[in-house]
Amino acid sequence: MNADLARQLIEKHGSPLFAYDLDAVKARAVTLKRELPEGSRLYYSFKANPLPAIARELREQGVRAEITSDGELRAAQNAGFTDGIVFGGPGKSEKMIARMLENGVRHFSCESFTDAARLSQMAVKAGVNITAMLRVNPQQAPDARLAMSGVESQFGFDEALLLAEGAAERLKLPNLTINGVHVYFGTQVASVEALARNTQCALDTASRVSTALGFECEVANVGGGFPWPYASDAAGSDLTGLRDALEVVWKASPLHGKTQLCFESGRYLCASSGTLLTTVLDVKKAGSKTFVVLDTGIHHLGGMSGLGRIPRAALTLINLTARRDGEIVADVVGPLCSPLDSLARGQKMPPVEVGDVLAVPNVGAYGLTASLLGFLSHETPWEVAYRGSQETEKWVFQCWHNSQRAV
Ligand SMILES: Cc1ncc(COP(=O)(O)O)c(C=O)c1O
Repeated sequence: MNADLARQLIEKHGSPLFAYDLDAVKARAVTLKRELPEGSRLYYSFKANPLPAIARELREQGVRAEITSDGELRAAQNAGFTDGIVFGGPGKSEKMIARMLENGVRHFSCESFTDAARLSQMAVKAGVNITAMLRVNPQQAPDARLAMSGVESQFGFDEALLLAEGAAERLKLPNLTINGVHVYFGTQVASVEALARNTQCALDTASRVSTALGFECEVANVGGGFPWPYASDAAGSDLTGLRDALEVVWKASPLHGKTQLCFESGRYLCASSGTLLTTVLDVKKAGSKTFVVLDTGIHHLGGMSGLGRIPRAALTLINLTARRDGEIVADVVGPLCSPLDSLARGQKMPPVEVGDVLAVPNVGAYGLTASLLGFLSHETPWEVAYRGSQETEKWVFQCWHNSQRAV
């Protein structure tokens, strides 16, 4: 992002701060839509970033909402989504389903026989009719970095269960019409070829399952997993050729011509828009090591890698205060009183001094809200949206409170 704007935002709102470029969101949506087969529908997965400013931008580009919680529902409503919302997720409570129904959500991704029965019961109680796609975990293994299907996982119906005798009967439930199949293989799918292969596999699954169970497959949500670098300035993914590859697969599917083809994306649509601006609080030596202490850490960035559950991504830190010659190797840590608060170890980076403002690019997806925001009860940083060099609005994430309040 533009260094002058970054400095202005920090001066005005304080550090640390997430800044989101709405033009980048629009550009990614335009590119991705161009690379999907004609007539496809694209959903935005709010889990990547529920910021209403981002979601609104995507809605204006004709993207629909895919949500998994009541907080995401509120974010979608805040962004102006009124219909066509899909609600999914493996553990839908009665309370959550009721909230969706009260708010006009009528289409679901259904994860199990229990989930189907619960959706039906709640629809009957609310006196409404709903539709659901069956989320299927195909027998075939995927091409994805974080595989969620094609492996034993908690997501979706194991395909074998749906192909077994009696499955169709168990899904004949009041006020619930099964009208499609949903397959999500995983995230960061590395190439156009892999994306096409996964799509083919999802379409084959949708065809097999709908034929076996005897329902009309009106919608096939074949997932996505469109990639983008995380917290690094590596080049963004080139999707050139994707449309041709997907068209071949789609036209060969028996569902072509009678089914609405859908894709979903979080990361690709919003990752590039986000920059984390942070200030150096300390630079200190411990034995042979240098530690750079920032005012941001695993409570704002890093998601699940903050707890060491998944590998830390390589980080890019750009010094916006001054270009300093040379390179240092440092452990980059945050302000939390925990040795886990580490953003990078042995990081090669430009020399820094106390007070320097640094930027971490490509953190618009799985940044702030995927991190340990409540850990150590620090203040939540502002999230500021901008267009060109103009700030447009600012938000603060309030799902968690920074300290308890009696209720
Ligand atoms: C069912 C489902 N759809 C979509 C997504 C979004 O994935 P991505 O951000 O990689 O596009 C996820 C991510 O976990 C998911 O679980």
